[in-house]
Amino acid sequence: MPCTVIVGGFFGDEGKGKIVAYLARKDKADVAVRGGVGPNAGHTVMFHGKEHKTRMLPSALVSNQTRLMIGPGVLINVNVLLEEIKNFDTKDRTFVDPQCCIIATTHIEMDGSDPNLNRIGTTGTGTGPANADRALRKALLARDSFELSEYLQDIPSIVNSSIDNDKTVLVEGTQGTFLSLYHGTYPFVTSKDVTASAICSDVGIGPKKVSEVLIVFKAYVTRVGSGPLEGELELEETTSKGWTEYGSVTGRLRRAAPFNFDLAKRSIMLNSATQIALTKLDIVFPSDAGKRQFDNLSSDAKRFVNNIEKEVGLKVGVIGTGQELDDIIDRRY
Ligand code: IMP
Ligand code: MG
Repeated sequence: MPCTVIVGGFFGDEGKGKIVAYLARKDKADVAVRGGVGPNAGHTVMFHGKEHKTRMLPSALVSNQTRLMIGPGVLINVNVLLEEIKNFDTKDRTFVDPQCCIIATTHIEMDGSDPNLNRIGTTGTGTGPANADRALRKALLARDSFELSEYLQDIPSIVNSSIDNDKTVLVEGTQGTFLSLYHGTYPFVTSKDVTASAICSDVGIGPKKVSEVLIVFKAYVTRVGSGPLEGELELEETTSKGWTEYGSVTGRLRRAAPFNFDLAKRSIMLNSATQIALTKLDIVFPSDAGKRQFDNLSSDAKRFVNNIEKEVGLKVGVIGTGQELDDIIDRRY
């Protein structure tokens, strides 16, 4: 399967980063290319006991043989990107499209001070104001940036030719379906569409180039920032279940609710998902932490997974059972 698109099925923070990183290593991906909004995303990957946090680079960076790309649809914070390239030592395998739009300091200031954006509870990373200026045709692009010049490459051409040559390509989405500007809980959404079609457009591939759309659901639902969350638990309940999480970009407490089948079904429809990756099964079933074979799961955990498959009509091909990269049950087609 040359081209797999990975997208979030709920409100972001489903654990896409870990899934992408696992797939990149396991399937020896040649290319990992990021779509999505920009540095409002925060991906955490635990590899060999070390935590890797990225906001700009694809999470696949723990796979040394994988080339790391950022598609033209994505907004770039130049400082954040250069810092990550330095910290993760990926200079010789990072490539940025000249048409990526640059986030300016004024965008970040506006994201932090605009009362309407504060009400929505944005991440304050300047992405909304930058996309607004992009639509107004007055933003700067990566091709205008001297600091990025050595990384510039025609990303759609590389991605399409890699797929045509049967190389393994991972297209990494960010945020989650119900944060989509078109399909989410407007106005409590991010500044563009983030479903699979949009992620493909971000990196310059058409629908015929995609072999799999892997939709990532966490075993429960979380949401950071404002907006509706059906079945939202009281903080005490979230804590007692061990579902308490903090945003990796903003440090804000994430609100939590049980797995939502209606949202899952709609999100599968909106993304034409072909398989599910289910993460954090071990948080709901602590006795199953670290298991790597489906047969070894407790009967409660098996029932939980089987029930999701039955209710939404799609295979759960990948299951996350712990923080470490290889704490995964891989039962893809
Ligand atoms: P913005 O994308 O910073 O404009 O924020 C709009 C809404 O999307 C806010 O509720 C954010 O908390 C949320 N959001 C944006 N990016 C992410 C993400 O990567 N994970 C989770 N929530 C996000
Ligand atoms: Mg995140």
